[in-house]
Amino acid sequence: MNENRANQKKFALTTPLYYVNDIPHIGSAYTTMIADVIARWKRLQGYSVLLITGTDEHGQKIQRTAESKGLNPQAHCDRIVDEFKTLWDKLNISYDRFSRTSSERHQDIVKEFFQRVWEQGDIYLDQQKGWYCVACEEFKEQRELTEEGYCQIHTNLKAEWKDEENYFFRLSKYQEKLEEFYRLNPEFIQPESRRNEVLNFVKQGLQDFSISRVNVDWGFPLPSDPNHTIYVWFDALLGYITPLLNPDQEPTLENALSIWWPINLHLIGKDILRFHAVYWPAMLMSAQLPLPDRVFGHGFLTKDGQKMGKSLGNTLDPFDLIYRYGADAVRYYFVKEIELGKDGDFNETRFVNILNADLANDLGNLLNRTLGMVQKYCNGNGPQLTSDSLDENNPLKIIGQQLSERVSESMESLQFNGACEEIFSLIRACNKYIDESAPWSLFKQKKQTEVEQVLYGVLESVRLAAYLLSPITPNLSNRIYQQLGFCVDFNDFELVNQNFPFQDQTQWGKFPANQNLSKPEPIFSKLELP
Ligand code: MSP
Repeated sequence: MNENRANQKKFALTTPLYYVNDIPHIGSAYTTMIADVIARWKRLQGYSVLLITGTDEHGQKIQRTAESKGLNPQAHCDRIVDEFKTLWDKLNISYDRFSRTSSERHQDIVKEFFQRVWEQGDIYLDQQKGWYCVACEEFKEQRELTEEGYCQIHTNLKAEWKDEENYFFRLSKYQEKLEEFYRLNPEFIQPESRRNEVLNFVKQGLQDFSISRVNVDWGFPLPSDPNHTIYVWFDALLGYITPLLNPDQEPTLENALSIWWPINLHLIGKDILRFHAVYWPAMLMSAQLPLPDRVFGHGFLTKDGQKMGKSLGNTLDPFDLIYRYGADAVRYYFVKEIELGKDGDFNETRFVNILNADLANDLGNLLNRTLGMVQKYCNGNGPQLTSDSLDENNPLKIIGQQLSERVSESMESLQFNGACEEIFSLIRACNKYIDESAPWSLFKQKKQTEVEQVLYGVLESVRLAAYLLSPITPNLSNRIYQQLGFCVDFNDFELVNQNFPFQDQTQWGKFPANQNLSKPEPIFSKLELP
């Protein structure tokens, strides 16, 4: 990571800019949830964070979709953008900027960037012949198509033959520079398997790619030749730069790059790796700009083990899922169940079982019965002691003292499933500890101090777990903290940094003596299968 910026504690990250050919699907929701977890984790640590998401609105695919609906493209885009924003609100996504590639400010940035590349002599006119997949907005090699001429990702759409004059970007010129960059920055492409994929692709020899279209009106005109529009991907990648501008700044490249550039992390799906790990750095090299720190390509989601698709009739509607189960449940499942970087599956029975086991039973019941015992055995007051009175061999203290370090390691390497496992190892240890130490019989034996020690250990563990879970399930963490007698909103980052700072709250033993606890209420209702 860029050293200077690490000292200033700034972190900028992006989701892809989603195509607006349709309302958002679970794939877009997945990337955005993960990006939000990272952003929240960094904010919790006191970083100043810029989370960028947005929409990729130009090109043939969007133009055709709008036409098929009898709408002008801008009106169509506006409509779909509303759907994205609604979904992000429902999913509790804490984005800072929403980048729209059809915006006027973006056009200014694209123009200026194009000019820089043009001045480098990296753009030239030539004839483009080849097979084009409109859904990918990408030319394909014959070997990348099925025998019938379909693209392997969009198996319901035939690739189209194009033979037209286009402007090209001299990607081939950057072959060696790119290879050297990958060598010097082994962390640039992650995970390792994707890095290898890119290295193999580049090794085969890079070909220049066309960056203009003649028969697509829905795009920015090429500054040097308005008969052409700029290729949607050239324009879209620059959609990561425009939103770096503060709203009151003049839309110039210099302004846009002055605060947040270079971006620390581009989070994307594996299908768009080449654009981000090869084309984008080469474009930036040509414009003589520093490159982003990291591109992480996550895997694809399947449903019940099968590829999802409209034609297969097995899509998973994120709106419906949130409506039925709530945002925290959806966020928890995808973060905990899927190892980031690997493909993952959604199965509704497993979804319900995991949430009931982890959030309703292990965590929810634990808090509920512990608060119930506090009411019964401690006259409703929190235990009258602090962590110092727990033995050094107390099993919860042992796990709790190491937890934040372990969770931090997993979170920093984007292994969120590992982070959840660590957190729940403490929660499961609590359940075991209660069963084994049986506070109800300690109470009967009038061993009040021992009773309070057990209850203290559990309350403190639940608090710590809730704090560390807050980037994943912020509202659930709110409810837990509130029942534990704290006034906090994990969606209000400034307040959390001020009153519940990371360095302090991730220490074991922060639960105060004699805390004023709230009445126990279920924090997560058991889910039912439809
Ligand atoms: N517009 C481009 C990105 C431009 S970025 C400057 C694009 N958009 S997209 O809407 O088609 O895809 C957005 C993201 O959704 C991609 O990261 C893609 O990998 C992801 N997913 C699409 N289907 C998916 C699954 N089934 N599973 C997981 N993610 C998938 O590409």
